[in-house]
Amino acid sequence: MKGNSVIYSLFISTSLFLTNCEKADEPVKNNKIENLLSQMTLDEKIGQLNQYSIGAELTGPGAKEGQNKIRYEQLKNGGVGSVLNLLGAKNARETQQFVVDSTRLGIPLIFSYDVIHGYKTIFPIPLGESASWDLELMQNTAAVAAKEAAASGVMWTFAPMLDISRDPRWGRVMEGGGEDTYLGTEIGKARIRGFQGNDLSDITTIAACAKHFAGYGFSEGGRDYNNVYVGKHQLLNTILPAFKAAAQLEAATFMNAFNDIDGVPSSANEYLLRELLKGEWNYEGPVVSDWNSFGELITHGIANDKSEAAQLAINAGSDIDMEGSVYIESLKQLVEDNKVSEGKIDDAVRRVLKLKQDLGLLDDPFKYFDEEREKNTLLNADHLELARDAGRKSIVLLKNEGDLLPLKAKNIAVIGPLAKDKDSPIGNWRAQGETGSAVSFYEGIEAALPEANITYAEGCKLSIGPNNFFNEVEVEEEDRSGFQEAINVARNADVVLMNLGETAYFSGEARSRSEIGLPGLQLELLKEVYKVNKNIVLVLMNGRPLTIPWEAENIPAIVEAWHLGSMAGHSIADVLTGKYNPSGKLPMTFPRSVGQIPTYYNHKMTGRPSTDPGMVFYSHNMDIENSPQYPFGFGLSYSTFEYSPIALSKEVINKGEKLTVSVTVKNTSDVDGEEVVQLYIRDVVGSITRPVKELKGFKKLMIKAGESAQVDFEIGEEDLAFYRKDFTFGTEPGDFEVFVGTSSSDVQTATFKLN
Ligand code: GLC
Repeated sequence: MKGNSVIYSLFISTSLFLTNCEKADEPVKNNKIENLLSQMTLDEKIGQLNQYSIGAELTGPGAKEGQNKIRYEQLKNGGVGSVLNLLGAKNARETQQFVVDSTRLGIPLIFSYDVIHGYKTIFPIPLGESASWDLELMQNTAAVAAKEAAASGVMWTFAPMLDISRDPRWGRVMEGGGEDTYLGTEIGKARIRGFQGNDLSDITTIAACAKHFAGYGFSEGGRDYNNVYVGKHQLLNTILPAFKAAAQLEAATFMNAFNDIDGVPSSANEYLLRELLKGEWNYEGPVVSDWNSFGELITHGIANDKSEAAQLAINAGSDIDMEGSVYIESLKQLVEDNKVSEGKIDDAVRRVLKLKQDLGLLDDPFKYFDEEREKNTLLNADHLELARDAGRKSIVLLKNEGDLLPLKAKNIAVIGPLAKDKDSPIGNWRAQGETGSAVSFYEGIEAALPEANITYAEGCKLSIGPNNFFNEVEVEEEDRSGFQEAINVARNADVVLMNLGETAYFSGEARSRSEIGLPGLQLELLKEVYKVNKNIVLVLMNGRPLTIPWEAENIPAIVEAWHLGSMAGHSIADVLTGKYNPSGKLPMTFPRSVGQIPTYYNHKMTGRPSTDPGMVFYSHNMDIENSPQYPFGFGLSYSTFEYSPIALSKEVINKGEKLTVSVTVKNTSDVDGEEVVQLYIRDVVGSITRPVKELKGFKKLMIKAGESAQVDFEIGEEDLAFYRKDFTFGTEPGDFEVFVGTSSSDVQTATFKLN
């Protein structure tokens, strides 16, 4: 990521000078928060609500020229409460020392960073890891990410992203838990538990951040930062449950979303922030803006200037101003003009001070800055092994015909622009993952099959020029000169491993796409190779669901390998060789075409669902079938599983009673394998229209070859409750359908009644 090193070097050179001054012999007095608050001037209170990116990187539009000096003075005089993107135990210690020494009360900074899927050891992108449906795994990788980040002076991450999204054109789907509310909520909880552990003051845990509150994943057209139009039922039943669960789990912080919801920007949304989050949900943590989202209230057109923006944001319940300088420049005057009560500012400051106290910073501002620990923690062997395990468990086997997998062939051609790419598997939002540090696909195959005769051809370029977080990805070249070499190596091989997909920065923030097929010349290359050798295993590396209709129709074996992080090549080789039997399931639907978007499994019935063939008056596109390419929850295994009919403990339940749903799953193959058994329900008649299916439970279990396992689920009132027509939360009596199966579209069905 590009850095704005000017600000950073300015702070460090200056603070180095100041550290020769008398050191603070003791951390800030161990005052209770109220005591501390009572000592603070209005300026000092507002300073706690001000956050700058002063590290080696930028993750948003950088500071305007000439702001550096102002920011330095503010840092020195207690005008900054937290920073982001300043990394490394040594750098953080020096900056903390400077602030503790130079400010009147010596209140320490919080150091924050986007630790999204690992810090130095990089794990699969969150959407990829979500495909593992392994909550313990996701908690463990978040815990390791926290341990590494905390060893480097970071004590607050801006993760997990809890945005549900059904639009793969939106580049940030790579950062979340997919399209489903239940799965996304459970994954979010696992990640928060991983980051925060049981004690925020522990030097191996960091504060989490439930983001982006709210509705960002429904940006119109899948275009990042675009407007959001959702009804209140959609907001309450689909978008907010993950955030409510995060608040109940005491995620240490929340972050505003950039978008408006039906005309009200989230940073100034009193309903979201004061009525729901801080009111009904009784949330006590601080809400940080997204990058200058307070200042963007002016751009949205609901504030004339920074003062109005500050007034709207603080009154709505937004606490910390990231990179906006809106609060620091305007709040004092607003209080003096009685447009903002000092009580509102005190509430925000209390939340910030409580976070600092919970992190242990008020007792010891320097506890996270140990260079020796940093050196011993980052990228260690255990972390890399966990990354390899997370990678293989995230892989989804989409198709396996022609007896190509697990690999048996000895003459193997590896072809594609991503095959030797050691950077793209690291993915976007890579924190301190070193550029070009991943085990490439080719390296993984080579290491796993030392006896095989492996040939290679790049085939085509995927993208040229600088490929980084901050700049546009260059468009791919129209250069077919590598095709012939690829055709030649393919012709002479028993099997061809085609490694195609997206580079790291083709998804992520500000990376929306209007078409979501294989970028550039990759499909053309694949078709040329297919002409000379049909024994192709297509290995996809991508940050979003792709439209792959020709591939799905013609290629015998297809593996979804996302961007799997530091150990990607080994993870993929473990699956292709059968060392690990693939167990992943799609957390997001793969549409047949971009024209189908949004297409997702838990859609409503409509008044005209697809009915008798030949009858035209039903909800569909004339030029494509309604079903997706691959549905939510889909994923194959080298094993095969058979499901018994569902057995219910009761046919009728009363309010407050539980229902047990049982199936027997048999592994009918000769290979031990894991299966994700999925439970869905349908509320047949409600006071509002209800989804045709809703995930309400899942169990991932190993079933040995030839053996069976009984899987039981309990359904209770909380599983059947929703925000009803009058927006109250609860159940409604009536008929329900229950589904259990291996994907959202391959299920056993039963019915029961709720009295
Ligand atoms: C970015 C992202 C947000 C991130 C923040 C700080 O614009 O929207 O998710 O945490 O800025 O980097």
